[in-house]
Amino acid sequence: MDWIKLNARTIATSFLALTLGAGAYHAGGQTLLAQSTSQPESGTSASMQDWWKNAVIYEIYPRSFQDTNGDGIGDLNGITSRLDYLQGLGVDAIWLTPVYPSPDVDFGYDISDYKNIDPQYGTLADFDRLVAEAAKRHIRVIMDMVMNHTSDKHEWFIQARSSRDNPYRDWFVWHDGMGQTSTDKGVPPNNWQSLFGHSAWQWDEKTRQYYYHKFYVQQPDVNWDNPQIHEAFKDIIAFWLKRGVGGFRFDAVTTLYEDPSLADEGVVLGKDGKPVINAYGDPQLDNSKTDNQPGLHPVMQEMRVAADAFNSNKFPGTRVLIGETYMDNIAELAEMYGAPEKPEFHLPMDTQVGFINKLDVTVFRSKLIDVETQIGHNIPLLLFDNHDNPRLDARYGDGIHDTDIERVLSTVLFASRGAALFYYGDEIGMKTTPPARKQDVKDPIGVTGWPKEKGRDGERTPMQWDGSANAGFTKGTPWLPVPPSAATINVEAAKADPKSLLAWYKSLIRLKKTNPAFANGANLMLDTENTKVLSWMRQAPGAAEAVVAVNFTAEPQTVNLAASGAGLQAAHLKTLLKTPGGPVPRSLAAIKLGAYGVYIGEVQ
Ligand code: GLC
Ligand code: CA
Repeated sequence: MDWIKLNARTIATSFLALTLGAGAYHAGGQTLLAQSTSQPESGTSASMQDWWKNAVIYEIYPRSFQDTNGDGIGDLNGITSRLDYLQGLGVDAIWLTPVYPSPDVDFGYDISDYKNIDPQYGTLADFDRLVAEAAKRHIRVIMDMVMNHTSDKHEWFIQARSSRDNPYRDWFVWHDGMGQTSTDKGVPPNNWQSLFGHSAWQWDEKTRQYYYHKFYVQQPDVNWDNPQIHEAFKDIIAFWLKRGVGGFRFDAVTTLYEDPSLADEGVVLGKDGKPVINAYGDPQLDNSKTDNQPGLHPVMQEMRVAADAFNSNKFPGTRVLIGETYMDNIAELAEMYGAPEKPEFHLPMDTQVGFINKLDVTVFRSKLIDVETQIGHNIPLLLFDNHDNPRLDARYGDGIHDTDIERVLSTVLFASRGAALFYYGDEIGMKTTPPARKQDVKDPIGVTGWPKEKGRDGERTPMQWDGSANAGFTKGTPWLPVPPSAATINVEAAKADPKSLLAWYKSLIRLKKTNPAFANGANLMLDTENTKVLSWMRQAPGAAEAVVAVNFTAEPQTVNLAASGAGLQAAHLKTLLKTPGGPVPRSLAAIKLGAYGVYIGEVQ
């Protein structure tokens, strides 16, 4: 089961969106970026301000990226040692999943100290060195900011649970049970569930109340109705901004608030009219009272003001706010940007496109049109993968053409307008490798949900650098086993092969950075009735138009983009990038594509 499906509201409504906005749209309605943002080294203030608008962002799961001290766990010095590789790829920023001190129930997402580095990853000095070395390579470091919950080992919670009149008591969400008496704890206040299985309420015997946790029991939700929480998190954000971070990725941000009525959530019913039972054996709830509550918007406005205040000469360059925003539809995603006078996220993640999890041209086109037409003048952030979902092979592959399919997806990712985010290892086609046995599972949901939910270990295996033992990740014993596929799928092998997926990623990123149409051009869908091939053009003022045609099928296809109504003439085409094999097209009227073939050309 994939992560997005943990959120039933997402499944329930995602198909509704397909029927909307499927018509052709007009380039005239497009936002053109004021300026190409591609070259931070140009150093102009406009590019410093706008770097994120065409950014390529690389997600690192630090535990699994590069170990340098032989304990089998990746560390900050490991990331620093791989910065040249990341610069070679062309990334503008790296997002690190949490590296703060943590008891590691949720591998860093249960934070016990927000202003330090966990010793297993290094020290604050190592962090500062990483930021400085990254900056030399024009790479910004983005931190993960977990504001929904702390660890139960965080001092705030230790205080809060010590007595009902402790000053920190109200920093968390406490309620009496239903039917609670002085001798009986009753039952939890309502039917709300943890996304990680079972009731979201945990009885605390010492102070005789329940506390709320949307995630693991060891991740108590903080109380955002308490103004002190707002101040505490702004202080934490300032701490990292002063250290020079390039921004934050806000974790689980839609779960900050719960409905104060404490009303039960609805049960999701299947086609047979019976409750849908999730991987944990519980009825699937609709999350209507615990997700996407209105209070989150003022919080994000506040965080944006705090981050913008650091956008000074001393710390040049926009500090970007990215949101983990699995929304139900494009309208809800649009709200995450805030209003122009009250901005919220710069880049809330568009999970509408990347988690379709099926190579369906019509759905892709409709979702891409949505993000081009329904978010006003804002910038999309596309992504296809992260540390919570099976990798691309498991969600899109057919087991035969996986690499070709990954070329298809990366083309949509990098040749569309806006910022692009990808996950370590995607660039070499790393395979999802879940544990074979329950006793090997590290991510606790894989134990609770086994075998339906095997947890997220499968997408968190060590980065595959070379063909040596442990793939060059560690000289010790890796915390998760290196997949057998590392013998052939690794960075060293990919670098030696000009036709590798890695080479394809690099070419696409270079195109995105250097070709004006791809760097800042409008995005216009072409040939919009075609159900096999997704085609679009990129159009920037004063630059040659570029066209992209992507075959979503295993059969050869031919498209005629001259007839697609966008006013393109059957002009001469200059090939910018294409998948190997097949003829080079001479005109827009007949572009031939092999199985999962991609063609990118410039109209001359
Ligand atoms: C986010 C993270 C996930 C984590 C959860 C709780 O969804 O991406 O890894 O388990 O929040 O913090
Ligand atoms: Ca280590």
